[in-house]
Amino acid sequence: MSVNIVLGAQWGDEGKGKMTDYLAEEANVVARFQGGNNAGHTVVVGEKEYKLHLIPSGILHDDKLNILGNGVVIDPKALFTEIEYLEELGTKVTPEKLAISDRANVIMPYHKELDRLKEIARGKDNIGTTGKGIGPCYTDKVERSGIRMCDLLHADVLREKLKNNIEIKNKIITNVFDGEALDFEKIYNEYLEFGKRIKPFIKDTSVIIYDAIKEGQNVLFEGAQGTLLDIDYGTYPYVTSSNTTAGGVCNGVGVGPTLIESAVGIAKAYTTRVGKGPFPTELDNEMGEHIRTVGHEYGVTTGRSRRCGWLDIVILKSAVRISGLTSLVITKIDTLAGIDKISVCVGYKLDDKVIDYFPASLEDLAKCEPIYEVLDGWDESVADARTYDDLHPNAKAYVKRIEELTGVKVAIVSVGPKRSQTIRVHKEL
Ligand code: GDP
Ligand code: IMO
Ligand code: MG
Repeated sequence: MSVNIVLGAQWGDEGKGKMTDYLAEEANVVARFQGGNNAGHTVVVGEKEYKLHLIPSGILHDDKLNILGNGVVIDPKALFTEIEYLEELGTKVTPEKLAISDRANVIMPYHKELDRLKEIARGKDNIGTTGKGIGPCYTDKVERSGIRMCDLLHADVLREKLKNNIEIKNKIITNVFDGEALDFEKIYNEYLEFGKRIKPFIKDTSVIIYDAIKEGQNVLFEGAQGTLLDIDYGTYPYVTSSNTTAGGVCNGVGVGPTLIESAVGIAKAYTTRVGKGPFPTELDNEMGEHIRTVGHEYGVTTGRSRRCGWLDIVILKSAVRISGLTSLVITKIDTLAGIDKISVCVGYKLDDKVIDYFPASLEDLAKCEPIYEVLDGWDESVADARTYDDLHPNAKAYVKRIEELTGVKVAIVSVGPKRSQTIRVHKEL
Protein backbone atom coordinates (compact mmCIF):
# COMPACT_ATOMS: atom_id res chain seq x y z
CA MET A 1 0.00 0.00 0.00
CA SER A 2 1.28 3.49 -0.75
CA VAL A 3 -0.33 6.85 -0.32
CA ASN A 4 1.69 9.58 -2.01
CA ILE A 5 1.39 13.25 -2.79
CA VAL A 6 2.74 14.79 -6.00
CA LEU A 7 2.94 18.56 -5.84
CA GLY A 8 4.66 21.52 -7.45
CA ALA A 9 7.73 22.77 -5.58
CA GLN A 10 8.02 26.08 -7.47
CA TRP A 11 5.50 28.36 -9.24
CA GLY A 12 3.61 25.67 -11.14
CA ASP A 13 4.22 24.01 -14.52
CA GLU A 14 6.97 21.84 -13.10
CA GLY A 15 5.77 18.75 -14.95
CA LYS A 16 3.23 17.48 -12.39
CA GLY A 17 0.98 16.14 -15.15
CA LYS A 18 3.76 14.07 -16.70
CA MET A 19 4.90 12.74 -13.31
CA THR A 20 1.39 11.98 -12.08
CA ASP A 21 0.69 10.02 -15.25
CA TYR A 22 4.00 8.16 -14.81
CA LEU A 23 3.43 7.37 -11.13
CA ALA A 24 -0.23 6.51 -11.73
CA GLU A 25 0.98 3.30 -13.34
CA GLU A 26 1.49 2.00 -9.79
CA ALA A 27 -1.65 3.62 -8.34
CA ASN A 28 -5.29 2.57 -8.12
CA VAL A 29 -6.70 6.00 -7.33
CA VAL A 30 -5.54 9.47 -8.45
CA ALA A 31 -7.16 12.48 -6.77
CA ARG A 32 -6.92 16.24 -7.22
CA PHE A 33 -7.26 18.11 -3.91
CA GLN A 34 -7.29 21.81 -4.85
CA GLY A 35 -7.40 24.33 -7.67
CA GLY A 36 -9.61 24.09 -10.70
CA ASN A 37 -9.24 24.54 -14.42
CA ASN A 38 -6.63 27.25 -13.84
CA ALA A 39 -4.21 24.31 -14.02
CA GLY A 40 -2.73 23.10 -17.29
CA HIS A 41 -1.17 19.65 -17.03
CA THR A 42 0.48 18.15 -20.09
CA VAL A 43 0.75 14.41 -20.50
CA VAL A 44 2.36 12.77 -23.50
CA VAL A 45 1.35 9.20 -24.25
CA GLY A 46 2.93 7.72 -27.34
CA GLU A 47 2.46 10.22 -30.14
CA LYS A 48 -0.44 12.00 -28.44
CA GLU A 49 -0.16 15.09 -26.27
CA TYR A 50 -3.01 15.68 -23.81
CA LYS A 51 -3.63 19.00 -22.10
CA LEU A 52 -5.63 18.51 -18.92
CA HIS A 53 -6.99 21.33 -16.81
CA LEU A 54 -9.37 19.80 -14.32
CA ILE A 55 -9.45 16.03 -14.67
CA PRO A 56 -6.63 14.24 -12.82
CA SER A 57 -3.68 13.08 -14.89
CA GLY A 58 -4.42 9.42 -14.08
CA ILE A 59 -7.30 9.48 -16.58
CA LEU A 60 -5.11 8.25 -19.44
CA HIS A 61 -4.79 4.87 -17.76
CA ASP A 62 -7.93 2.80 -18.30
CA ASP A 63 -7.96 1.06 -14.95
CA LYS A 64 -7.59 3.94 -12.48
CA LEU A 65 -10.22 5.75 -10.51
CA ASN A 66 -9.76 9.52 -10.78
CA ILE A 67 -11.24 11.82 -8.18
CA LEU A 68 -11.96 15.53 -7.94
CA GLY A 69 -11.93 16.12 -4.20
CA ASN A 70 -13.99 18.58 -2.20
CA GLY A 71 -11.12 21.11 -2.26
CA VAL A 72 -11.31 21.45 -6.04
CA VAL A 73 -13.47 24.21 -7.55
CA ILE A 74 -15.35 22.92 -10.57
CA ASP A 75 -16.63 24.75 -13.62
CA PRO A 76 -19.16 22.24 -15.05
CA LYS A 77 -18.87 23.73 -18.53
CA ALA A 78 -15.08 23.31 -18.47
CA LEU A 79 -15.55 19.79 -17.12
CA PHE A 80 -17.76 18.73 -20.03
CA THR A 81 -15.50 20.42 -22.55
CA GLU A 82 -12.59 18.42 -21.14
CA ILE A 83 -14.56 15.15 -21.12
CA GLU A 84 -15.48 15.73 -24.78
CA TYR A 85 -11.87 16.62 -25.63
CA LEU A 86 -10.64 13.40 -24.04
CA GLU A 87 -13.31 11.31 -25.73
CA GLU A 88 -12.36 12.78 -29.10
CA LEU A 89 -8.80 11.66 -28.42
CA GLY A 90 -10.10 8.17 -27.62
CA THR A 91 -10.19 8.26 -23.80
CA LYS A 92 -13.58 7.42 -22.29
CA VAL A 93 -14.54 9.29 -19.13
CA THR A 94 -17.20 7.28 -17.31
CA PRO A 95 -18.43 7.34 -13.69
CA GLU A 96 -16.32 4.18 -13.22
CA LYS A 97 -13.22 6.26 -14.02
CA LEU A 98 -14.12 9.63 -12.53
CA ALA A 99 -15.77 10.54 -9.24
CA ILE A 100 -16.55 14.09 -8.17
CA SER A 101 -16.98 15.16 -4.56
CA ASP A 102 -20.50 16.18 -3.58
CA ARG A 103 -18.85 18.86 -1.41
CA ALA A 104 -16.80 20.53 -4.18
CA ASN A 105 -17.74 24.14 -4.85
CA VAL A 106 -19.08 25.06 -8.27
CA ILE A 107 -17.59 27.88 -10.35
CA MET A 108 -20.53 29.98 -11.52
CA PRO A 109 -20.63 32.52 -14.39
CA TYR A 110 -20.50 35.40 -11.90
CA HIS A 111 -17.21 34.05 -10.52
CA LYS A 112 -15.61 34.28 -13.95
CA GLU A 113 -17.11 37.71 -14.53
CA LEU A 114 -15.90 38.99 -11.15
CA ASP A 115 -12.44 37.53 -11.76
CA ARG A 116 -12.29 39.50 -15.01
CA LEU A 117 -13.72 42.74 -13.61
CA LYS A 118 -11.53 42.68 -10.49
CA GLU A 119 -8.41 42.19 -12.60
CA ILE A 120 -9.38 45.19 -14.75
CA ALA A 121 -10.08 47.27 -11.64
CA ARG A 122 -6.66 46.38 -10.17
CA GLY A 123 -5.08 48.01 -13.21
CA LYS A 124 -1.32 47.80 -13.28
CA ASP A 125 -1.40 45.99 -9.93
CA ASN A 126 -3.40 43.09 -11.35
CA ILE A 127 -2.46 39.56 -10.29
CA GLY A 128 -2.46 38.11 -13.78
CA THR A 129 -5.00 35.40 -12.94
CA THR A 130 -6.06 32.77 -15.46
CA GLY A 131 -9.53 34.35 -15.54
CA LYS A 132 -11.25 31.07 -14.66
CA GLY A 133 -13.14 32.42 -11.66
CA ILE A 134 -10.94 30.61 -9.12
CA GLY A 135 -10.47 33.42 -6.58
CA PRO A 136 -14.13 34.54 -6.49
CA CYS A 137 -15.31 30.92 -6.16
CA TYR A 138 -13.02 30.21 -3.19
CA THR A 139 -14.07 33.56 -1.71
CA ASP A 140 -17.71 32.42 -1.71
CA LYS A 141 -16.74 29.04 -0.27
CA VAL A 142 -15.03 30.66 2.70
CA GLU A 143 -17.75 33.27 3.00
CA ARG A 144 -20.27 30.37 3.12
CA SER A 145 -22.39 31.42 0.18
CA GLY A 146 -20.95 28.93 -2.31
CA ILE A 147 -22.98 26.49 -4.38
CA ARG A 148 -21.72 22.93 -4.06
CA MET A 149 -21.99 19.92 -6.34
CA CYS A 150 -24.70 18.37 -4.13
CA ASP A 151 -26.80 21.55 -4.58
CA LEU A 152 -26.93 21.03 -8.35
CA LEU A 153 -28.99 17.88 -7.72
CA HIS A 154 -31.79 19.67 -5.86
CA ALA A 155 -33.76 22.06 -8.05
CA ASP A 156 -35.28 23.99 -5.12
CA VAL A 157 -32.03 24.36 -3.24
CA LEU A 158 -30.24 25.50 -6.39
CA ARG A 159 -32.99 28.03 -7.15
CA GLU A 160 -32.81 29.51 -3.65
CA LYS A 161 -29.02 29.66 -3.42
CA LEU A 162 -28.60 30.97 -6.94
CA LYS A 163 -31.26 33.64 -6.40
CA ASN A 164 -29.52 34.94 -3.30
CA ASN A 165 -26.15 34.91 -5.01
CA ILE A 166 -27.24 36.53 -8.26
CA GLU A 167 -29.00 39.31 -6.40
CA ILE A 168 -25.85 40.28 -4.54
CA LYS A 169 -23.40 39.57 -7.36
CA ASN A 170 -25.42 41.63 -9.84
CA LYS A 171 -25.34 44.58 -7.44
CA ILE A 172 -21.56 44.29 -7.21
CA ILE A 173 -21.12 43.75 -10.96
CA THR A 174 -23.28 46.74 -11.93
CA ASN A 175 -22.72 49.19 -9.06
CA VAL A 176 -19.10 48.57 -8.15
CA PHE A 177 -17.64 47.55 -11.50
CA ASP A 178 -20.07 49.09 -13.95
CA GLY A 179 -20.52 45.70 -15.61
CA GLU A 180 -23.61 43.98 -17.03
CA ALA A 181 -26.08 42.11 -14.83
CA LEU A 182 -26.34 38.33 -15.34
CA ASP A 183 -29.63 36.59 -16.12
CA PHE A 184 -30.92 34.36 -13.30
CA GLU A 185 -33.23 32.08 -15.35
CA LYS A 186 -30.62 31.38 -17.99
CA ILE A 187 -28.00 30.38 -15.43
CA TYR A 188 -30.50 28.40 -13.35
CA ASN A 189 -31.65 26.31 -16.30
CA GLU A 190 -28.12 25.79 -17.55
CA TYR A 191 -26.80 24.63 -14.15
CA LEU A 192 -29.82 22.43 -13.47
CA GLU A 193 -29.03 20.69 -16.74
CA PHE A 194 -25.34 20.39 -15.76
CA GLY A 195 -26.50 18.80 -12.49
CA LYS A 196 -28.41 16.10 -14.38
CA ARG A 197 -25.37 15.31 -16.50
CA ILE A 198 -22.94 15.29 -13.58
CA LYS A 199 -25.18 13.28 -11.22
CA PRO A 200 -23.68 9.84 -12.01
CA PHE A 201 -20.22 11.18 -11.16
CA ILE A 202 -21.12 12.82 -7.84
CA LYS A 203 -20.08 10.76 -4.78
CA ASP A 204 -18.79 11.10 -1.24
CA THR A 205 -15.19 10.85 -2.38
CA SER A 206 -13.69 11.00 1.12
CA VAL A 207 -15.37 7.66 1.85
CA ILE A 208 -14.11 6.17 -1.43
CA ILE A 209 -10.53 7.24 -0.70
CA TYR A 210 -10.63 6.01 2.89
CA ASP A 211 -11.98 2.62 1.82
CA ALA A 212 -9.34 2.35 -0.91
CA ILE A 213 -6.56 3.06 1.59
CA LYS A 214 -8.00 0.58 4.09
CA GLU A 215 -8.09 -2.08 1.36
CA GLY A 216 -4.39 -1.53 0.75
CA GLN A 217 -4.79 0.22 -2.59
CA ASN A 218 -2.25 2.75 -3.85
CA VAL A 219 -3.47 6.32 -3.84
CA LEU A 220 -1.84 9.35 -5.47
CA PHE A 221 -2.80 12.92 -4.70
CA GLU A 222 -2.08 15.27 -7.61
CA GLY A 223 -1.39 18.90 -6.82
CA ALA A 224 -2.08 21.80 -9.12
CA GLN A 225 -0.10 25.07 -9.22
CA GLY A 226 2.95 25.09 -6.92
CA THR A 227 4.33 25.89 -3.48
CA LEU A 228 4.92 29.58 -4.18
CA LEU A 229 1.35 29.99 -5.44
CA ASP A 230 0.01 28.67 -2.10
CA ILE A 231 -2.48 31.09 -0.52
CA ASP A 232 -0.56 31.04 2.80
CA TYR A 233 3.04 30.34 1.82
CA GLY A 234 3.27 31.80 -1.67
CA THR A 235 4.19 35.27 -2.85
CA TYR A 236 0.93 36.75 -1.55
CA PRO A 237 -1.06 38.37 -3.13
CA TYR A 238 0.48 37.01 -6.37
CA VAL A 239 -0.79 33.53 -5.61
CA THR A 240 -3.76 31.32 -6.32
CA SER A 241 -6.61 30.96 -3.81
CA SER A 242 -5.97 27.47 -2.44
CA ASN A 243 -3.41 25.56 -0.37
CA THR A 244 -1.20 23.97 -2.97
CA THR A 245 1.13 22.48 -0.35
CA ALA A 246 0.77 19.11 1.40
CA GLY A 247 -1.53 20.48 4.11
CA GLY A 248 -4.11 21.10 1.39
CA VAL A 249 -4.44 17.37 0.77
CA CYS A 250 -6.05 16.52 4.10
CA ASN A 251 -8.76 19.17 3.80
CA GLY A 252 -9.01 18.89 0.04
CA VAL A 253 -9.91 15.21 -0.13
CA GLY A 254 -10.90 14.43 3.43
CA VAL A 255 -8.07 12.13 4.56
CA GLY A 256 -6.09 12.29 7.78
CA PRO A 257 -2.35 13.12 7.72
CA THR A 258 -1.45 9.84 9.40
CA LEU A 259 -2.57 7.93 6.31
CA ILE A 260 -0.18 9.74 3.96
CA GLU A 261 3.24 8.19 3.51
CA SER A 262 5.21 10.45 1.25
CA ALA A 263 5.18 13.76 -0.55
CA VAL A 264 7.13 14.26 -3.76
CA GLY A 265 7.98 17.77 -4.88
CA ILE A 266 8.22 18.27 -8.62
CA ALA A 267 10.78 20.90 -9.60
CA LYS A 268 12.18 22.00 -12.90
CA ALA A 269 15.96 22.08 -13.21
CA TYR A 270 15.48 25.86 -13.44
CA THR A 271 12.61 28.14 -12.39
CA THR A 272 9.62 29.57 -14.27
CA ARG A 273 6.59 31.65 -13.35
CA VAL A 274 3.51 32.80 -15.30
CA GLY A 275 1.66 35.92 -14.27
CA LYS A 276 2.89 38.71 -12.06
CA GLY A 277 4.79 38.81 -8.80
CA PRO A 278 8.34 38.65 -7.47
CA PHE A 279 10.90 36.23 -8.90
CA PRO A 280 14.39 36.66 -7.39
CA THR A 281 16.34 34.51 -9.88
CA GLU A 282 14.50 35.74 -12.98
CA LEU A 283 16.67 36.10 -16.09
CA ASP A 284 15.29 39.06 -17.97
CA ASN A 285 17.97 38.65 -20.63
CA GLU A 286 19.24 36.44 -23.44
CA MET A 287 19.75 33.47 -21.14
CA GLY A 288 16.11 33.71 -20.00
CA GLU A 289 15.03 33.85 -23.62
CA HIS A 290 17.23 30.86 -24.45
CA ILE A 291 15.66 28.76 -21.66
CA ARG A 292 12.15 29.83 -22.73
CA THR A 293 12.81 28.82 -26.34
CA VAL A 294 14.55 25.52 -25.65
CA GLY A 295 12.13 24.57 -22.85
CA HIS A 296 9.01 25.70 -24.80
CA GLU A 297 8.01 27.77 -21.81
CA TYR A 298 4.55 28.95 -22.80
CA GLY A 299 1.49 28.46 -20.56
CA VAL A 300 -0.92 25.59 -21.24
CA THR A 301 -4.00 27.41 -19.95
CA THR A 302 -3.46 30.97 -21.19
CA GLY A 303 -0.65 30.62 -23.76
CA ARG A 304 1.33 33.34 -21.99
CA SER A 305 5.14 33.32 -22.07
CA ARG A 306 6.58 31.92 -18.88
CA ARG A 307 9.21 34.02 -17.14
CA CYS A 308 12.42 31.99 -16.76
CA GLY A 309 15.29 32.03 -14.27
CA TRP A 310 17.95 29.94 -12.51
CA LEU A 311 17.12 27.19 -10.06
CA ASP A 312 16.39 28.62 -6.63
CA ILE A 313 17.28 26.37 -3.69
CA VAL A 314 15.67 28.81 -1.22
CA ILE A 315 12.36 27.96 -2.90
CA LEU A 316 13.02 24.23 -2.87
CA LYS A 317 14.03 24.29 0.79
CA SER A 318 10.79 26.11 1.61
CA ALA A 319 8.86 23.45 -0.29
CA VAL A 320 10.69 20.67 1.57
CA ARG A 321 9.87 22.30 4.90
CA ILE A 322 6.26 23.29 4.31
CA SER A 323 5.17 20.04 2.68
CA GLY A 324 7.53 17.67 4.49
CA LEU A 325 8.79 16.52 1.11
CA THR A 326 10.34 13.06 1.18
CA SER A 327 11.90 13.43 -2.26
CA LEU A 328 12.20 15.65 -5.30
CA VAL A 329 11.69 14.96 -8.98
CA ILE A 330 13.88 17.13 -11.22
CA THR A 331 12.26 17.70 -14.62
CA LYS A 332 13.44 19.30 -17.85
CA ILE A 333 17.11 18.81 -17.10
CA ASP A 334 17.43 18.30 -20.89
CA THR A 335 16.64 22.01 -21.38
CA LEU A 336 19.92 22.99 -19.72
CA ALA A 337 22.13 21.13 -22.22
CA GLY A 338 24.49 23.48 -24.04
CA ILE A 339 24.68 26.09 -21.27
CA ASP A 340 28.33 26.47 -20.32
CA LYS A 341 27.93 27.64 -16.72
CA ILE A 342 24.75 27.01 -14.75
CA SER A 343 23.98 29.17 -11.71
CA VAL A 344 22.05 27.91 -8.71
CA CYS A 345 20.76 30.29 -6.06
CA VAL A 346 21.80 28.98 -2.65
CA GLY A 347 20.62 31.85 -0.44
CA TYR A 348 19.50 35.47 -0.42
CA LYS A 349 21.38 38.47 0.88
CA LEU A 350 18.86 40.61 2.76
CA ASP A 351 20.39 43.84 4.09
CA ASP A 352 23.54 42.53 5.76
CA LYS A 353 22.19 39.06 6.52
CA VAL A 354 22.18 35.84 4.50
CA ILE A 355 18.87 33.97 4.64
CA ASP A 356 17.81 30.62 3.22
CA TYR A 357 14.05 30.93 3.70
CA PHE A 358 11.46 32.78 1.65
CA PRO A 359 10.44 36.09 3.31
CA ALA A 360 6.72 36.85 3.77
CA SER A 361 6.94 40.53 2.91
CA LEU A 362 7.24 41.41 -0.75
CA GLU A 363 9.17 44.52 0.28
CA ASP A 364 11.83 42.34 1.96
CA LEU A 365 11.78 39.99 -1.00
CA ALA A 366 12.40 42.88 -3.39
CA LYS A 367 15.57 43.67 -1.43
CA CYS A 368 16.83 40.08 -1.56
CA GLU A 369 19.86 39.52 -3.75
CA PRO A 370 20.36 35.93 -4.87
CA ILE A 371 23.68 34.36 -3.91
CA TYR A 372 24.78 32.06 -6.70
CA GLU A 373 26.90 28.99 -6.89
CA VAL A 374 28.12 28.28 -10.42
CA LEU A 375 28.28 24.73 -11.76
CA ASP A 376 29.74 23.38 -14.97
CA GLY A 377 27.21 22.65 -17.67
CA TRP A 378 27.22 19.93 -20.32
CA ASP A 379 27.08 20.12 -24.08
CA GLU A 380 25.53 16.91 -25.22
CA SER A 381 21.81 16.16 -25.07
CA VAL A 382 20.59 14.05 -22.15
CA ALA A 383 17.19 13.42 -23.78
CA ASP A 384 18.15 9.85 -24.68
CA ALA A 385 19.44 8.95 -21.23
CA ARG A 386 17.42 6.07 -19.75
CA THR A 387 19.46 5.33 -16.62
CA TYR A 388 21.10 7.63 -14.13
CA ASP A 389 24.51 6.54 -15.37
CA ASP A 390 23.59 7.55 -18.94
CA LEU A 391 23.52 11.17 -17.78
CA HIS A 392 26.54 13.38 -18.47
CA PRO A 393 28.76 13.54 -15.32
CA ASN A 394 28.05 17.26 -14.96
CA ALA A 395 24.29 16.64 -15.10
CA LYS A 396 24.76 14.01 -12.38
CA ALA A 397 26.82 16.49 -10.35
CA TYR A 398 23.98 19.02 -10.76
CA VAL A 399 21.45 16.52 -9.39
CA LYS A 400 23.78 15.54 -6.53
CA ARG A 401 24.25 19.19 -5.59
CA ILE A 402 20.47 19.69 -5.46
CA GLU A 403 20.25 16.74 -3.06
CA GLU A 404 23.03 18.15 -0.86
CA LEU A 405 21.57 21.64 -0.76
CA THR A 406 17.94 20.62 -0.12
CA GLY A 407 18.65 17.69 2.17
CA VAL A 408 16.26 15.35 0.30
CA LYS A 409 16.92 12.74 -2.34
CA VAL A 410 16.11 13.20 -6.00
CA ALA A 411 13.95 10.14 -6.68
CA ILE A 412 13.40 10.76 -10.39
CA VAL A 413 15.08 12.78 -13.14
CA SER A 414 13.02 13.65 -16.22
CA VAL A 415 14.79 14.20 -19.52
CA GLY A 416 11.84 14.84 -21.85
CA PRO A 417 8.04 14.94 -21.96
CA LYS A 418 7.52 11.25 -22.78
CA ARG A 419 6.85 8.49 -20.29
CA SER A 420 10.02 6.73 -21.46
CA GLN A 421 12.12 9.84 -20.74
CA THR A 422 11.94 9.22 -17.02
CA ILE A 423 14.85 8.00 -14.92
CA ARG A 424 14.02 6.37 -11.62
CA VAL A 425 16.96 7.08 -9.35
CA HIS A 426 15.35 5.68 -6.19
CA LYS A 427 12.45 3.23 -5.93
CA GLU A 428 11.14 4.84 -2.74
CA LEU A 429 9.56 8.25 -3.18
P1 GDP B 1 2.36 20.95 -14.93
O1 GDP B 1 1.40 22.08 -14.89
O2 GDP B 1 3.22 20.90 -13.72
O3 GDP B 1 1.71 19.63 -15.23
O4 GDP B 1 3.36 21.25 -16.15
P2 GDP B 1 2.93 21.78 -17.62
O5 GDP B 1 2.34 20.66 -18.37
O6 GDP B 1 2.18 23.04 -17.51
O7 GDP B 1 4.35 22.18 -18.19
C1 GDP B 1 5.39 21.25 -18.29
C2 GDP B 1 5.79 21.13 -19.77
O8 GDP B 1 7.03 20.48 -19.86
C3 GDP B 1 4.83 20.27 -20.58
O9 GDP B 1 4.82 20.74 -21.89
C4 GDP B 1 5.47 18.88 -20.52
O10 GDP B 1 5.13 18.05 -21.63
C5 GDP B 1 6.91 19.23 -20.55
N1 GDP B 1 7.81 18.34 -19.82
C6 GDP B 1 7.62 17.64 -18.69
N2 GDP B 1 8.74 17.04 -18.30
C7 GDP B 1 9.69 17.38 -19.21
C8 GDP B 1 11.08 17.10 -19.33
O11 GDP B 1 11.70 16.43 -18.52
N3 GDP B 1 11.71 17.67 -20.40
C9 GDP B 1 11.07 18.43 -21.32
N4 GDP B 1 11.78 18.93 -22.32
N5 GDP B 1 9.77 18.71 -21.24
C10 GDP B 1 9.09 18.20 -20.18
P1 IMO C 1 -0.39 24.28 -13.06
O1 IMO C 1 -1.21 23.30 -12.26
C1 IMO C 1 1.32 28.26 -13.23
C2 IMO C 1 -1.06 31.53 -11.58
C3 IMO C 1 -1.66 32.56 -12.51
C4 IMO C 1 -1.62 33.78 -11.62
C5 IMO C 1 -1.95 33.20 -10.24
C6 IMO C 1 -3.41 33.34 -9.84
O2 IMO C 1 -0.47 24.10 -14.52
O3 IMO C 1 1.00 24.31 -12.52
P2 IMO C 1 -5.64 32.10 -10.56
O4 IMO C 1 -6.31 31.99 -11.89
O5 IMO C 1 -5.29 30.78 -9.95
O6 IMO C 1 -6.38 32.98 -9.61
O7 IMO C 1 -4.25 32.87 -10.88
O8 IMO C 1 -1.60 31.83 -10.30
N1 IMO C 1 -1.41 30.13 -11.87
C7 IMO C 1 -0.55 29.24 -12.38
N2 IMO C 1 0.72 29.38 -12.78
N3 IMO C 1 0.74 27.06 -13.27
C8 IMO C 1 -0.53 26.89 -12.85
O9 IMO C 1 -1.12 25.69 -12.77
C9 IMO C 1 -1.26 28.01 -12.42
N4 IMO C 1 -2.51 28.22 -11.97
C10 IMO C 1 -2.59 29.51 -11.63
O10 IMO C 1 -0.85 32.72 -13.65
O11 IMO C 1 -0.32 34.29 -11.56
MG1 MG D 1 0.83 23.73 -16.03
